Amino acid sequence: MVLLVLVPPQLANCLRNPCLEVIPDRAFTCMGLNISGVPAEVPNTTRNLDLSFSNLKSLGSNYFSSVPELHHLDLTRCQLHTIEDNSFKDLHKLSTLILTANSLQYLGPAAFDGLTLLKKLVLVETNITSLADLPIGHLHSLQELNLGHNNIASLKLPEYFTNLTSLRYLSFFSNKITHISKGDLDVLREGNRLNLTLVLSLNDIKYIEPGSFEKIHLGELVLRSSFENFNVMHSSLQGLTGLQVNRLIVGEFNNNQRLVNFQSGLLSGLCQVRMQEFVLICFRDFEDDTDTLFNCIGNVSSIRLVDLQLEEVSEVPMFSQVKQLECKKCKFKEVPAVKLSLFKELRVLRITKSKYLNSFREKFHTLSNLEVVDLSENRLSFTGCCSLQFPKCPNLKHLNLSFNSDISVTGDFATVKNLLYLDFQHTKLFGPGSYPVFLSLQKLIYLDISYTRTHVKAQCAFCGLNSLQVLKMAGNSFETNKLVDSFKNLSHLHTLDISNCKLVQVDQSTFGALTELKELNISNNKLLLFDPGVYKPLRALTALDFSNNQLSVLLDSALEILPDSLVLLDISQNLFDCSCIHVNFLKWVKEQQELLQHEELMICHMPTYVKNVSLLNFDLSSCQLNASMVASSVIVVLAAVVFLFLVYKYYFQLYYSLVLLSGCKHSAERGNTYDAFVIHSSKDQEWVMKELVEPLEGGTPPFHLCLYYRDFIPGVPIITNIIQEGFLSSRNVIAVISTDFLESKWCSFEFDIAQSWQLVEGKAGIIMIVLEEVNKVLLRQRLGLSRYLRRNTYLEWKNKEISRHIFWRQLTGVLLEGKRWNHEEVKLM
Ligand SMILES: *[C@@H]1O[C@H](CO)[C@@H](O)[C@H](O)[C@H]1NC(C)=O
Ligand SMILES: *[C@@H]1O[C@H](CO)[C@@H](O)[C@H](O)[C@H]1NC(C)=O
Ligand SMILES: *[C@@H]1O[C@H](CO)[C@@H](O)[C@H](O)[C@H]1NC(C)=O
Ligand SMILES: *[C@@H]1O[C@H](CO)[C@@H](O)[C@H](O)[C@H]1NC(C)=O
Ligand SMILES: *[C@@H]1O[C@H](CO)[C@@H](O)[C@H](O)[C@H]1NC(C)=O
Ligand SMILES: *[C@@H]1O[C@H](CO)[C@@H](O)[C@H](O)[C@H]1NC(C)=O
Ligand SMILES: *[C@@H]1O[C@H](CO)[C@@H](O)[C@H](O)[C@H]1NC(C)=O
Repeated sequence: MVLLVLVPPQLANCLRNPCLEVIPDRAFTCMGLNISGVPAEVPNTTRNLDLSFSNLKSLGSNYFSSVPELHHLDLTRCQLHTIEDNSFKDLHKLSTLILTANSLQYLGPAAFDGLTLLKKLVLVETNITSLADLPIGHLHSLQELNLGHNNIASLKLPEYFTNLTSLRYLSFFSNKITHISKGDLDVLREGNRLNLTLVLSLNDIKYIEPGSFEKIHLGELVLRSSFENFNVMHSSLQGLTGLQVNRLIVGEFNNNQRLVNFQSGLLSGLCQVRMQEFVLICFRDFEDDTDTLFNCIGNVSSIRLVDLQLEEVSEVPMFSQVKQLECKKCKFKEVPAVKLSLFKELRVLRITKSKYLNSFREKFHTLSNLEVVDLSENRLSFTGCCSLQFPKCPNLKHLNLSFNSDISVTGDFATVKNLLYLDFQHTKLFGPGSYPVFLSLQKLIYLDISYTRTHVKAQCAFCGLNSLQVLKMAGNSFETNKLVDSFKNLSHLHTLDISNCKLVQVDQSTFGALTELKELNISNNKLLLFDPGVYKPLRALTALDFSNNQLSVLLDSALEILPDSLVLLDISQNLFDCSCIHVNFLKWVKEQQELLQHEELMICHMPTYVKNVSLLNFDLSSCQLNASMVASSVIVVLAAVVFLFLVYKYYFQLYYSLVLLSGCKHSAERGNTYDAFVIHSSKDQEWVMKELVEPLEGGTPPFHLCLYYRDFIPGVPIITNIIQEGFLSSRNVIAVISTDFLESKWCSFEFDIAQSWQLVEGKAGIIMIVLEEVNKVLLRQRLGLSRYLRRNTYLEWKNKEISRHIFWRQLTGVLLEGKRWNHEEVKLM
C-alpha cells in the first residue's frame, strides 16, 4: 500500500495497464511485469512482443497460439527453466527469438519446432554447455546464432550444422572453449559456401591444433582477448594454418587486456593464413619490438591498426601488397611519410584520431597508386600545403586534413592537381580568402573549408575551381560581412554552404553564375532581406536553408521567384512580422507545409500582440476580420464625408430647423415687436425704402417694420438675426418679390423659412408683393401653391395710381389684423 502511494502516477497507470502499445496493433512491450503468460490484451495481430523480465518460468506447447503473427519475440530474463516441445509451434512467421538470461534446464527436442522462418536466435546466458543437444538442426533459415556467455567447452560443430545453410554469424563470445581440434569445424568445410563470421573472443584458448582451420573459408574470424599470454597466442595462431578468411580480427578489449606487450614474432602464424583484411586492435605496449609486425601481413590488401600504442611504423616488407592502411589512435608524433612510402601499392592511407600527431615534415615518396589520404582528427600543424608533402603522388584524389590544428596553404597544388576532394574543415587555415590559392585545382569537385577562420577578402578567392560542385564554408567570414563576387566562376556548383558567416548583405550579382546550384545553406546569418533579384538566377534550387536570419517576411515578389524544383525550404527562426498586411505570406505558409521545414520554429516576432505565436497557429481569420473592419471604417469615413458635405451644403436649412425647434419653445415668450419682417433682394432696397418703409412707418397708423440692414443686431450671425429678430419678433412677413428676388438663393431661402415658419407657428401669413416686371412662369414655379393659401396675401405692385390705392388698402388691411396698439401710438392717433 505504502509502495503504491509512492509510485509516480504514470507508473501507477502502467501497473493498471500492463502492456505498452508501441505501434498500434503491431508492437507491444510488456517488460518488467510479473506476468506469467501472454497477456490477453495483446491482440492476435501483434508482430513485435517484448515480454522481457516477466515470470514465465516454463513454456508449454502452443504457448503463443494467441499471437500467431509474431515476427519478433523477446523473452529476456523471464525466469525460464523449461521449454517444452512445440512451445513456439504457432509462430510460423517468427524471425527473431531472444532467450537471453534464462537458465534453461530443460529444452525439449522439439522445442523450436514450427519456427520455419527464424533468422536470428539469441541464446546468450542460457546455461548451455554443449551444442550437441541443441535442437536447432531444422532451422534452415537461421542466419544468426548467438551463444555468448554460456558454458560451451567444445567448438565441435555437430553434423546438423550442415543443414544451417543460411548461417552467417556464429558467436561463442565468452564461453569455455580451451582447445580447438582438427575436425571441430569439418562441417564448415563442405561446399565452401559460407560467408560465416565466427566469434571466439573471450574464450580462454590454450591451443589450436594445426589443421583445425585447414581449408576452412570464413567471412570473418574474431579472436579478441582469447589468449592469456604471448606464448599461447603465438602458438595458437600457428594453428590457423590453412585458413582462408576475408577479415581476421585479433587483439584485446580495451577493458580486458591480458597480454601485456607485443613481442617479436607474435603474428608469425599468420603467414599461413590467406586473408584480405587484418585488424589488430587494442595492443598497448609495443615498445621497440615492433619490427616483425608486418612480417606475415605484408601481403594482405588491407590492414587496420586500432588503438595501438605504436610510435613508429614497423619495418615494411619488400613488395608489400597492402593497398589500404589505417592507423587509428596510434602514437605517432610525425606523419611517417618516408616509411609509409614503402607500401608501394598503397591506395588508401588513413591516420586518424592520433592525439600526439602534430608534425608533417616528411615527404611521401613515389606512391603512384595513392588515391586517398585521410589525416583527419589529429593535431597536425604545418606549412606549405600541399605539393610539398606529396611531390610524387599524381593520383591523389581525396585529401582529408580536417579537424587538425593549423595549416598554411600556399597555393602550390601543382603535384596534386588531380585532387577531387579536399577537406580542411575545423582546421585553422592561413592563405585561403586572402589569395587565390586554389588556382591549379581545376578538377576539384568538393571543397570543405568550414570553420577554418577563413576571411574572404580577395575577389578571386575561389578562382580556378572551375569543376567545383560542392563548396562548404560555414563558420567563416567575408569582407564587410557582405557577399559580392566570390562565386563568379563556380558555374557547376550544386551545393553551397555559407551558413554562420555573419553575413549582413548579399549583392545582386553574387549568385549570377550558379545556375546549377541545388542546395544553398545561408542559414545562421544576419540577413534582413530575401531579395528576389539576388536569388532569381538559382533556377535549379531544390533545397534552401534560410533559417535563423532576420527576415520579417517573404514578399509576393520573392514567392514568385522560388523555383518549381524547390522541395525543401527552411525559413524557420527568423523575425517574422505577422501584421495583417502580410496576410498573403501568412496564408502561403499554411499552404506550404510540405515544402517548409521546421515549421514549428516559425514564430511571429512582431507585432507585439502576436509575439511568440507560431505562424502555423496564427489565426488568419483575425486578419479577415480586420479587413472587414477596414471596409466598414472606410464606409464610415465616406459617410462622414458625405454628411459633412451635406451639412456644408444645407447648413442654413439645418441650422434653421434647429432654431425652428428651439423657436417653438421661445415664441411664446417673445413679443411682437414688429408688424412685419421684410424680406427682399438687396437690389430692391431702394424700392423698399421709398415705396414701402416710408409710407408704412410714416403713415397713420404707423407700422413698425423689421429691416435686416437696419434692425438686425450687429455681431450676431445673420441666420440668428433672421430667426430671432425677423420671424420671431414679427407678426407678418412681407416678401418683396422681384426678378432679383427669385434669382437670389438667399431670398429663396428666406422665403422658404418663412413658409415653414408659417406652418409651424400658425402665424398670420406671408404678404407677397410682386413687382411688375417679374417673369410669371418663374414666379409660379417659385411661389408654388403658397400664394393661394388663405392666410397669405398676394399683392401685385403696379405703377398706376388706381392700382396703388387698392394695393395700399389691401396691405394696411392685412397688417392691421391682430395689431396690438401701445399707448404712445394710441395717443398719437
Ligand atoms: C510474481 O508473481 C509470482 C506468482 O506468479 C509471485 O509468487 C511473486 O511474489 C511475484 N513477484 C513479485 C515481485 O511481485
Ligand atoms: C484475430 O481475432 C479476431 C477476433 O478477435 C478474429 O476475427 C480473427 O480471425 C483473428 N485472426 C487470426 C489471424 O487469428
Ligand atoms: C545449469 O545447468 C546445469 C545442468 O546442466 C545445472 O546443474 C545448473 O544448476 C544450471 N545453472 C543454473 C544457474 O541454473
Ligand atoms: C560477408 O558478410 C559480411 C557481413 O557479415 C558482408 O559485409 C560481406 O559483404 C559478405 N561477403 C560476401 C561475399 O557475401
Ligand atoms: C574527413 O574526415 C572527417 C572526420 O573523420 C569526416 O567527417 C569527413 O567526412 C571526411 N571528409 C571527406 C570528404 O570524406
Ligand atoms: C572561368 O571558367 C572558364 C571555364 O569554365 C575558364 O575558361 C576561365 O579561365 C575561368 N576564369 C577564371 C578567372 O578562373
Ligand atoms: C545549414 O547549416 C546549419 C549550420 O551551419 C545546419 O545546422 C543545418 O542543418 C544546415 N541545413 C541543411 C539543410 O543542411
